[in-house]
Amino acid sequence: MSQLNLLNIVQRPRRLRKSAAIRNLVQEKHLTINDLVYPLFVCPGTNVVEEVSSMPGSFRYSIDNAVKECQELWDLGIQSIDLFGIPEVKTEDGSEAYNEYGIIQEAIRAIKAKVPDLCIMTDVALDPFTPFGHDGLVRDGIILNDETVEVLCKMAISHANAGADFVSPSDMMDGRIGAIREALDDTDFSDVGILSYAAKYASSFYGPFRDALHSAPQFGDKTTYQMNPGNTDEAMKEIELDIMEGADIVMVKPGLAYLDIVYRTKERFDTPVAIYHVSGEYSMVKAAAQRGWIDEKRVMMESLLCMKRAGADLIFTYYAKEAARILR
Ligand code: PBG
Repeated sequence: MSQLNLLNIVQRPRRLRKSAAIRNLVQEKHLTINDLVYPLFVCPGTNVVEEVSSMPGSFRYSIDNAVKECQELWDLGIQSIDLFGIPEVKTEDGSEAYNEYGIIQEAIRAIKAKVPDLCIMTDVALDPFTPFGHDGLVRDGIILNDETVEVLCKMAISHANAGADFVSPSDMMDGRIGAIREALDDTDFSDVGILSYAAKYASSFYGPFRDALHSAPQFGDKTTYQMNPGNTDEAMKEIELDIMEGADIVMVKPGLAYLDIVYRTKERFDTPVAIYHVSGEYSMVKAAAQRGWIDEKRVMMESLLCMKRAGADLIFTYYAKEAARILR
């Protein structure tokens, strides 16, 4: 046990790493089940559970099975989900997005009936609802801003009407947070929150998600509305605008490669910060693990903990269930 002080030094940081008990005592940041939000893909039909081929362990569920899944999440201790829907039909005006009997609206009602205390967030963007796969309406190859925001407002109201706790606009149109806040307030949904995808980058890490939702852009890319990965000041501007417009929680997306943005956001604003550990990040870990190249559980837990360390208050991750099982 005894060791010599040959170097004659006073500070020995290794004393605080000597045993698990001591390491645990001085751990600064922790991941808890409360931090996790599980993204859930809902598709038409009944009794469907379909694995997303590029996201092993992630599934598209018909509403009946989504409800069962939510019960399982709740029993695991996961208290929040984010719903993404695959509609029956895609139309150029995206009108299925605000159909009162659409996939998301019906899913919200069914889940609330069975698991009433689960916090339901809903994705607000048009990409799965038009044939173009863009987050907004399209005219002559241009992604329209203000016309899109009008549709997003209708979509948000229909989600609130079905019982959503939070709407989460992921579209990156200008001015949509203020417009959605006003639309919700005007329809007596002042208690429905907004989690804005405030600093959402035009990232190549979203590929598997677009497989999952059949929502890959049919022309061009998303660089006229999502952010340039080279920018950070612009992220501060986007976040400030969204907070001024009424966002309750702001998100940075993707996750690991953007922790500097999370850190800066947390230093600068007193609003809860979410991070999205996106599909490509999940699939990379899965793929390497399947080949036996990395220890999946450890890489997953380390990734999520590092997001907390950077300053994230909540984490959207496809690994929520696996992490919850370890954290319990
Ligand atoms: C679309 C949306 C995307 C994601 C969440 N909402 C994809 C995109 O912007 O193309 C990505 C999530 C992920 O990759 O896990 N509004």
